[in-house]
Amino acid sequence: SQNSLLIRNGTIVNADGISENDIFIENGIIKELGKNLSVPNGIRSIDAKGFFILPGGVDPHTHLEFEFMGTVTADDFYHGTKAAVAGGTTTIIDFMDGKENETLIDAYNSYREKAEGKVCCDYGFHMVIKGWNERIKADMETLCSEHGINSFKMFMAYSFRLNDSQLYSILEHIRNLGALAQIHAENGTIIDKNTERLLEKGITGPEGHELSRPEEVEAEAVNRVCVISKQVSCPVYIVHVMSKLAAQTLADCRKRGAQVFGETLASALGLDGSQLPHKCFEEAAGCLMSPPIRPDPTTPRFLMDFLKQGNLQVVGSDNCTFNKEQKKIGMGDFSKIPNGINGLQDRMSVVWEKGVHTGILSPTDFVAVTSTNAAKIFNIYPRKGCIAVGSDADLVVWNPTKTRVISAKTHQHAVDFNIFEGMECHGVPEYVIVNGRVCVDQGQLNIIKGSGRYLECPVFCPYVYKQ
Ligand code: URP
Ligand code: ZN
Ligand code: ZN
Ligand code: ZN
Repeated sequence: SQNSLLIRNGTIVNADGISENDIFIENGIIKELGKNLSVPNGIRSIDAKGFFILPGGVDPHTHLEFEFMGTVTADDFYHGTKAAVAGGTTTIIDFMDGKENETLIDAYNSYREKAEGKVCCDYGFHMVIKGWNERIKADMETLCSEHGINSFKMFMAYSFRLNDSQLYSILEHIRNLGALAQIHAENGTIIDKNTERLLEKGITGPEGHELSRPEEVEAEAVNRVCVISKQVSCPVYIVHVMSKLAAQTLADCRKRGAQVFGETLASALGLDGSQLPHKCFEEAAGCLMSPPIRPDPTTPRFLMDFLKQGNLQVVGSDNCTFNKEQKKIGMGDFSKIPNGINGLQDRMSVVWEKGVHTGILSPTDFVAVTSTNAAKIFNIYPRKGCIAVGSDADLVVWNPTKTRVISAKTHQHAVDFNIFEGMECHGVPEYVIVNGRVCVDQGQLNIIKGSGRYLECPVFCPYVYKQ
């Protein structure tokens, strides 16, 4: 039938091992795994000989149609998820961020509305929390119990940052809800002071950005929130760990018993930040994000080793794209350059190139850090993040030897440049199956706008705190 598909002769890679099996898919679900599966006539079959079959990528860090720093991201829910599928990512978890005077429930409804009719793959949401009061407290509970939200992001930098007292209280609440706290860890007070000083000295270009927020400013915040996390017994997920010092600090806190997870980004693994200070405004502003891509050229290898060792668990994209014109808002004042970079389409290829092709990661490690670990951490496993009977049929038939050169000329994003421009990557998706439908077919993209479904992320068993 039209709703069935057979994939033959591939090497199936899961985070916990490799097997040689055929995969039979029906109505969007993996129905059977086995050797030489016999299926009725008239069913499409794909020969995956010589290819790896991977669980579709799970990117738990995207900002689509996001209003930020006086403008709105170039990638909307259509272009963002189209780019995702083209690169082998079949699930995203996006950040909802309410407007001033909007309740969290209103924000949730408005984001569902924005995404509906545009998304090309399944999507879930995290909610950003920028304050603390009874209304927010009650709405967080409703989001968990009724709307499939199990993760909340708090900022320690930017004007809307929370102080330690607020973080402590919110983490207690999140712990009681059985949810997960996500933290943007940078010391906002120090950044503001440094920014003022640099601008006064006449350092107004994009090079001022990293100078205002060096590694220890990131690492200090990581340490502080890990301490709070441990005091209140609330698990924490540090988003976008960008530096060696922050990653090491996180690992040290884990050793001391903090329940913390770490996410790094394709940008941090793929780009050698030592070149950034020498670039012109357009290129330096194009790569500008927070925390910054670090100038230390040993950073990407260090972070990749940490992924291998399990000191970091996830690679996200933090896709938050602004066009060249939008980046110019910050011409003459680096603190006004809209922060954010692309990565939704290229995350899988960049991690394969820098991780697997170099021999640091095995294919199973690759699946763990691009799909399975995020699915587990955000509680959508084994529906997502693995190839097993009963799981959603989100798969990538991956050609490890074919290469492509990343370019804005060919990418599916709406944004008008690509931070990985010119990078040659081994590892190309030949087929991408989204909910049982072939959406990349021998390299050709064939998506249906609006076909993605909202994915509820259930809370974990509520944690009962005992003194
Ligand atoms: O620079 C960044 N990371 N922009 C997106 C917003 C955030 O902090 O994740
Ligand atoms: Zn952030
Ligand atoms: Zn240039
Ligand atoms: Zn982000």
